[in-house]
Amino acid sequence: MAEKLRIGVLASGGGTNLQSIIDGCQAGSINAEIVTVISNNPSSGALIRASNAGVMTQCIDHRSFEKRDDFDSEVVAALKENNVQLVVLAGFMRIIGQRFLDAFPNRIMNIHPALLPSFPGLHVQQKALDYGARFAGCTVHFVDGGVDTGPIIAQAVVPVLDNDTDESLSARILVQEHKIYPQAIEWFAQGALSITGRKVIVSAQVQDSTQELINPPLDH
Ligand code: GRF
Repeated sequence: MAEKLRIGVLASGGGTNLQSIIDGCQAGSINAEIVTVISNNPSSGALIRASNAGVMTQCIDHRSFEKRDDFDSEVVAALKENNVQLVVLAGFMRIIGQRFLDAFPNRIMNIHPALLPSFPGLHVQQKALDYGARFAGCTVHFVDGGVDTGPIIAQAVVPVLDNDTDESLSARILVQEHKIYPQAIEWFAQGALSITGRKVIVSAQVQDSTQELINPPLDH
């Protein structure tokens, strides 16, 4: 078995994606070790989940820095000190600056709760509902200099139901987030991901699926 990939997770919120990655590492379905969890938010649930799992935590509060670059430099230093090989953004609510990107080229992943390139930015489950989209979903992508614009690794699709609320749709999407993020990290750990332009090639043994999704379903 290859050596475990050293990952650093950055999170600002409740940390359910972090939990799915902790669980995957513990179960051995991700060949990685979370060497640090960093949050900009002292009351983030992610910090509690990490300490419950015995993972090192660091709180770097962005409000203590005047400039974003200084905050970024502190986070980069913490990641480098721990020899992090892949940075995993799991509900991290700060924009990643150029200096940070340059420190981890093609080594920062993010999860976004929409089917990019539709609905980048914030409050996107509500935006999909307001738009009347019939499908929503989530996207794991590498991070580049734009907002939710980097090369796409994996996506999962869920139907939007007529009686959906922001909460019910977000919950249905979150279930899928917890499946595709651990898988994308495991592919990275295997060295199975390569980037050509905007495209990510997955060289792992993946089954092609041509199954279509139609919502609402056809009568017959
Ligand atoms: C998720 O919906 C993720 O897609 C978005 O922020 C949310 C984080 O949730 N980037 P959690 O903190 O992982 O529970």
